[in-house]
Order: sequence, then structure tokens, then C-alpha cells
Amino acid sequence: MFKAILIDKQDEGQRVALETLDESRLPEGDVTVRVECSTLNYKDALAITGKGPVVRSFPMVPGIDLAGTVESSTAEAYQPGDSVLLNGWGVGETHWGGLAEKARLDSRWLIPHPTAFSARQSMAIGTAGYTAMLAVIALERQGITPDRGEVLVTGANGGVGSYAIALLSRLGYWVVASTGRLEETAYLESLGAQEVIDRQTLSEPGRPLAKERWAAAIDSVGSHTLANVLAGTRYDGTVVACGLAQGMDLPGSVAPFILRGVTLSGIDSVMRSYADRVEAWQRLGELLASEQLEAIMDTIGLDEAIDKAGELLAGRVRGRVVVDMAG
Ligand SMILES: NC(=O)c1ccc[n+]([C@@H]2O[C@H](COP(=O)([O-])OP(=O)(O)OC[C@H]3O[C@@H](n4cnc5c(N)ncnc54)[C@H](OP(=O)(O)O)[C@@H]3O)[C@@H](O)[C@H]2O)c1
Repeated sequence: MFKAILIDKQDEGQRVALETLDESRLPEGDVTVRVECSTLNYKDALAITGKGPVVRSFPMVPGIDLAGTVESSTAEAYQPGDSVLLNGWGVGETHWGGLAEKARLDSRWLIPHPTAFSARQSMAIGTAGYTAMLAVIALERQGITPDRGEVLVTGANGGVGSYAIALLSRLGYWVVASTGRLEETAYLESLGAQEVIDRQTLSEPGRPLAKERWAAAIDSVGSHTLANVLAGTRYDGTVVACGLAQGMDLPGSVAPFILRGVTLSGIDSVMRSYADRVEAWQRLGELLASEQLEAIMDTIGLDEAIDKAGELLAGRVRGRVVVDMAG
């Protein structure tokens, strides 16, 4: 028997509860993992509250990230006792996920748990930090070095934004953070932002080209913000798009691409290759200090996760929520 958050569909809507389930109910997979920690991403909160179409089949255990220990395996790559990590692959959406004491998974989705971190720490990073790392690597591959100038991070107080600031700053970039919460300026500066700007300067409809300012940008906001960021990017600069907090549209023009040679680079963390995942987590291990992670995380038990999901969507949570199965 194991405890899990279970989402089920009923006539009057969705029902979500912490339940005790028999192991025979676990889905198919060649590796069974004893989950040590998971986390609450925005996507998980949408799944738990039913406020977004995240869950694709019912009943579903949410949780797109997990860290744990292999309990049994028929896969050559993993033996009982191995520490493993999972981010994405549709887990928590189409396959039972990490907000449970046990998970049965396809071994191809797992990577060895990074030795630099404890399970709590890797879950404090979670998909948000791993996505930010993929975005920074994308900038590096475009030849954006710290001497090129200011790098803008939008959605600065969000999970992706916060980690993007911390990673860029650690690598020596001059980081400008754009936020709707100017009252969090001290927090953003403590992460490494050199300047904090009001997101309203970027969120309204703008011109096809603006004054060249950004050498590069990491955007988790989309819509008019992304269009304005592209318009204000310097010749040969790169903008990495990884989110849609303002909207899924991109109401801009081709002017930045054909007149300034700007590159727009997309990030998807869910289906990334094994090699890319291992590289990203290796880099995270080199760049993030444990004290930084401890300051960012709030740890809760599995029995608190349902209530916390509502708080997260209401914007009452700062930093990252780690769900520790030990309570
Ligand atoms: N591509 C991928 O693989 C991938 C992976 C993870 C996440 N994502 C996406 O990336 C985005 C950020 O994820 P997250 O986990 O960082 O979410 P989050 O923690 O909720 O942060 C989003 C941030 O965006 C800003 N924001 C919210 N609403 C806005 C609006 N209407 N206009 C402008 N800014 C707004 C806020 O920052 P301020 O308060 O500082 O303004 C907020 O903290 C989401 O869209 C998510 O779906 C994509």
C-alpha cells in the first residue's frame, strides 16, 4: 500500500484526495521508485485544482517531477537502491506522477540523481530550474558571452525567472530582471539581478523595432512582452522563449530577425534527450550553492499539497515548494 494524491473525474467535476492505494494499481513501467520528494510546479497546481487542462487521463496522480530510490527494476540501466530523478515526459499528465510515495515509470525517462544535491534540493530546483539551465545553455550555444552586455530575464519572481537570474549572475552576466512585483526587488537583487524594471514597460503593444538594449533575454512570459523584448534586442542577439505567463500569442513583426539578425530560440523541457538532461543537471550542480537552495525552498508533507496548490495559483507562494514524503 502507498499514499498518493489521486485526481478523478466525476459528473460534477473533478475530485482530488490523498488516498491509500494498493501497489497493483500502479501503471506499467520497468522501474518502481520509492519517491522521496516531489515538488509543486504551476502545472501541478493547475492539475490538482482542475483550473487547467493538464491531466489527460483519469484517475491520475499529479507531479511532473520526482526524486527517489529504485525499489525494483527489470531495466538493465537501474538496480534497486539507485537514486534517480525525473522531470517531465508527460508524467503527472498522462502517466501517474510524483505526488505519491511510489511511482512506476519507464526507465528511459529517468536519469541518475545528481550527486551534488539531496532529493529535497533537486526538487527545490525541479522543472523550473532545469528549464532555466536549458535556457542558459541555449544562450551559450548562440555565443552570448557575459561581455556582450545586458541580459534581460522576464517573469523574474517566477520559478524559471528566479533560477535564470541566479544562474546567469553566477556565470558573470549583467542581469536585468523584469517583474510586476517591484516590492520583491531586494529578493531579486539577492539572486544576482543588477537592475530591476517594471514589467509594464514591456507588456503593452509596442513598435516593430525599439532602441537596441538587450544582448540577450530569457523570457517566460510570451505575448506582447516577448514581442517587445525581440524589438529591443541588439544586433545579433538571442532571445530564449520558454513560457507563456502573459499569453501564448506573439504579436510582433519579423523586423528584429531580418534587420538585426536576432535569433529566437525555443525551449521545451518535457521531451528533451537524456544527454541534454544529464548535461543540464551537471551544470546545475556546478552553479547552484546549497545555501541558495535552502533559502528558496519551503518544505511540506504530502498531506498539505492539495491546499498548497490553491495558494500557489492565488500567487501567495514565493520560491519553490518541496513535497517531502517523510512529512
Ligand atoms: N518550456 C518549458 O519546458 C517550460 C518549463 C517550465 C515552465 N514553463 C512555462 O514557463 C512559464 C513560467 O513558469 P514558472 O514555473 O516560472 O511559473 P511561475 O512561477 O508562476 O512564474 C511566472 C511569472 O511570470 C510573471 N507573470 C505572471 N503573469 C504575468 C502576466 N500576465 N504578464 C507578465 N508577467 C506575468 C510573474 O513574475 P513577476 O511577478 O516577477 O512579474 C510570475 O511569477 C510558464 O508559462 C510555464 O508554463 C515552460
